[in-house]
Amino acid sequence: MRHFHAPLTAIPLVLAFSAAALGQAAPAEIDLRDWPIPDIETLGDDDFGRAVRYGHRLATETHAVIGPEVADESMRYAGNNLACTSCHQEEATKPFAMPWTGVTAVFPQYRARENDLQTVEDRINGCMERSMAGRPLPLDSAEMRGISAYIAFLSAGIPVGAKLIGGGTIPEPAPDRAADPAAGKLVYEEHCAVCHGDDGEGMRNGEVGDLAGYLYPPVHGDDSYNDGAGMYRVVMAYRFILANMPEGADHENRVLTPDEAYDVAAYINTQSRQQKPGMENDFPDRLRKAVDMPFAPWAGDFPAEQHKFGPFKPIAEWQAAELKKRQEAERAAQ
Ligand code: HEC
Ligand code: HEC
Repeated sequence: MRHFHAPLTAIPLVLAFSAAALGQAAPAEIDLRDWPIPDIETLGDDDFGRAVRYGHRLATETHAVIGPEVADESMRYAGNNLACTSCHQEEATKPFAMPWTGVTAVFPQYRARENDLQTVEDRINGCMERSMAGRPLPLDSAEMRGISAYIAFLSAGIPVGAKLIGGGTIPEPAPDRAADPAAGKLVYEEHCAVCHGDDGEGMRNGEVGDLAGYLYPPVHGDDSYNDGAGMYRVVMAYRFILANMPEGADHENRVLTPDEAYDVAAYINTQSRQQKPGMENDFPDRLRKAVDMPFAPWAGDFPAEQHKFGPFKPIAEWQAAELKKRQEAERAAQ
């Protein structure tokens, strides 16, 4: 009798088990385009509330608290007068403008730039040293705690490991050709110079030293992001600009065509800016190097020019094929 019944009762058990296994393999999908933005005013005057408010101030008025012009020299962590929200728009909640919503749920994560597992704090300091052209915040500083608390506040309710729609930049492939900075200069003059200035210098809210930051932030020159920043890479800048610039544009209301966004991304990133030393150390696993990383060394024989301006698709396809070969060889050797 037992033998007869066992297979029957076993079937639902097997199904239940595989469903659980499937549940683990398919993480929750959160669409940030209709995710409610939490209200900072609802927080109490406790430790967490105070940390979140400080983090919010650091994000939106970075220049006034840790900028290069603050009176206390030991607090000059940022090397330019941008704010985090010069790029992370709408207080770091705008979909496809690298929102911080959900970031706490997706870190620690593997990052190719470091070829290592990175925490939220590592990532904050990545932007401190590159986008903000400055130095890292100490892990135990009130500033680091404040920014991570604000990110955690924005991420509340998003399950660990969730797949975020609207996170990062818009996943739109770059045109399959070399970007043209000369054409991009014309796009800049028509669509960007009115705010960002003829020389990319932006427009200050006040005078140098009064800590008021920018109404329109500089897109090149010494007070902009340095050449180690994600925004310095043509595909990254293309995706940001396509869905977010000129001001007022978003992923549903674009102003530029992909071709215009691509060329203007190349143009602003051929102008002068601060240089980050040690760029040859980024992406130590060369087959996983971002295709738009303009700094040697690279795997393969593509010209330096192509790593800066594209076309990027042939590089991406070659890297993927080589990576697959390497993985197969590694598996065979085991
Ligand atoms: C010049 C533009 C710019 C500025 C200014 C900037 N960032 Fe970023 N940030 C980026 C870009 C671009 C990315 C994503 C691309 C990448 O992988 O580098 C990013 C990613 C991040 C992420 C990870 C987001 C994710 O979805 O994984 C965090 C956290 C972050 N930045 C924090 C900060 C903080 C804190 C500041 C201010 C101290 C700051 N950023 C200033 C451009 C900027
Ligand atoms: C109407 C004014 C306006 C126009 C026009 C405009 N921007 Fe912006 N831009 C802004 C503002 C304001 C920010 C800061 C983010 C925010 O507050 O939304 C910004 C931020 C940026 C940033 C990130 C921060 C930095 O300083 O690097 C880049 C890159 C950028 N704009 C590129 C462009 C490009 C390229 C164009 C033309 C296609 C353009 N913008 C047109 C107002 C404008």
